[in-house]
Amino acid sequence: CGIVGYTGKKQAQDYLLAGLAALEYRGYDSAGIDVLSGDGELHGVKCAGRVAALVERCRTANLVGNTGIAHTRWATHGAPTDRNAHPHLDCSGRIAIVHNGIIENFQELRAYLARAGHTLRSDTDSEVIAHLVEDAWNGPAKGDLVSAVRYACKRLQGTWALAVVCADAPGQVVVARKGSPLVVASTPDGAYAASDVTPLATVTSHVIQLDDDQLARLSQDGSVVVYDADGTVVEHPSTLDIDWDASAATLGGYPDFMAKEINEQPEAIERLLHDRLGEHGIEMDELNMTAEELASVDRIYLVACGTSYHVCLIARAMIEDWAKIPVFCEYASELNYKEPLVTDHTLCVIVTQSGETADTLTAARRMKGLGCKVFAVTNVLGSTAARESDGTLYVQAGPEICVCSTKAYTAQMVACSLLALRLALANGQMDQTEVERHFRNLQAMPALIREVISRRWQDQEASRLFRSAHSALFLGRGVNSTTAYEGALKLKEVSYLHAEAYPAGEMKHGPIALLEPGFPVVAIVPADHVHDKTVSNIQEVIARGATCIAVATDGDEKIAKLCDNVLWIPPVPEEYLVPIVAIVHLQMLARYVAIARGCDVDKPRNLAKSVTVE
Ligand code: G6P
Repeated sequence: CGIVGYTGKKQAQDYLLAGLAALEYRGYDSAGIDVLSGDGELHGVKCAGRVAALVERCRTANLVGNTGIAHTRWATHGAPTDRNAHPHLDCSGRIAIVHNGIIENFQELRAYLARAGHTLRSDTDSEVIAHLVEDAWNGPAKGDLVSAVRYACKRLQGTWALAVVCADAPGQVVVARKGSPLVVASTPDGAYAASDVTPLATVTSHVIQLDDDQLARLSQDGSVVVYDADGTVVEHPSTLDIDWDASAATLGGYPDFMAKEINEQPEAIERLLHDRLGEHGIEMDELNMTAEELASVDRIYLVACGTSYHVCLIARAMIEDWAKIPVFCEYASELNYKEPLVTDHTLCVIVTQSGETADTLTAARRMKGLGCKVFAVTNVLGSTAARESDGTLYVQAGPEICVCSTKAYTAQMVACSLLALRLALANGQMDQTEVERHFRNLQAMPALIREVISRRWQDQEASRLFRSAHSALFLGRGVNSTTAYEGALKLKEVSYLHAEAYPAGEMKHGPIALLEPGFPVVAIVPADHVHDKTVSNIQEVIARGATCIAVATDGDEKIAKLCDNVLWIPPVPEEYLVPIVAIVHLQMLARYVAIARGCDVDKPRNLAKSVTVE
């Protein structure tokens, strides 16, 4: 979910609605706003559906006022209905809250509030907060909104980023944070709050990042005061300068952000590689580890979710082969409920484009607690992952707006290749010349990706083979079994077509039963050491009358003869780097299939770009 708050000289709804649109990638199944008007009352609108639907409703709602809060939701507790949309009000209708996170003890709190005579109107976990603030406001907080929110937070278990307004505390927004990101900004025009810096990039270049258990009072004169959990003023809260070109988050002539971001992959990788090769190998001071510490790493945990987990699978292959260090790849949500096998020299690397995925952050905290150094690979400056890790490598892909990840995926793969080289040099498994050779191969990636992008007509043509499909199977071997996983994930995410991926050799042990005439099978079969084995699997596919779409290397005549359709890639100088080039076809294929099926590629149903709940 995304939250925003404002109090100042301007009309609150202008920033609040624009802010929600900027945060919509965090969830978009319902949205709402409350503004405190000159008549001393809260006026609000909320509805199921996208932010655009809320904006439409606001046109006639006459929300005049300089103080307000708003929310865009990704449903956890309670269906995405008008009633469950935020803001939520207390009984008196004079206190409104918006919340991102999960209140784990909401059942107990609901029961307690019901006994105390409160009437709750929604099915959400969040609504209890409004009622707890009401109790505190009328009780121990004695009419002070910061104290009231502080009292309420003391009763909560779980995670939250909160913004609260009260009709009896005009010209104030109080915000609080525990476990969910929240930034605030003080400007001459007013004080702003948001879940992340995206909505603030147009109003300021300097923000305050709240830490866990902190609260802040935003006042109409534009001032911001930060408090700790005891109510003591925090004199020097953490700050962040935003060096962000706001135009980077606009379409710039592309039909959708997915198309734009696919096209931006070459530049993203160029930025990341710039100045990385130094006299002593790969420059990676961000690791914050001495040469001795690096050389002594004897085990690595790679931890992530979703697309970023696929990056880890590729990184494992490179680290194990190049640096000869054993690697464990774990879904964060799985690692969190088992005992990791940590040694005295285990390094944990979390890969997270947003830097805010709750499962990944929990895993990182746990690994840190077990004594591991934690290194983050992320795209978002100042994200929680970056702030809490011992070192951070920013992949510098620029804002990724489309919910499904494209350029952050390839940039993260390149970042992990650099990490693998750095480790291999540190522990003596590679010498400088070898590192340089691999680095030159990485430098070839942008041109190869550009070439694949210029062949997008091949993907458009192949997308027709999915017209009457109900499902698809993706196959690949070695590192390209991961390309298959990621290709299938992209197709599912944006086109809602069921897709499943398997290591090609495993097909005969089950998924082959799915095959029938016309069933689309995408086989990634580049010129590599397992090529002929994958060709045998393709024969098995074709023998069952299924339709085979191959991703193959230019000049592969066997594949040209065998397959119904081929997505050609230029020769890639190194097998481990093929996934960086091959996936670009599958990103474009997924997009074309989705467009043909009438799907919104940038905002697929039910998904959110940054999942800030476990
Ligand atoms: C969500 C997104 C995925 C993403 C995953 C992990 O589920 O929809 O596209 O891969 O989160 O996100 P992260 O920001 O941690 O890489």
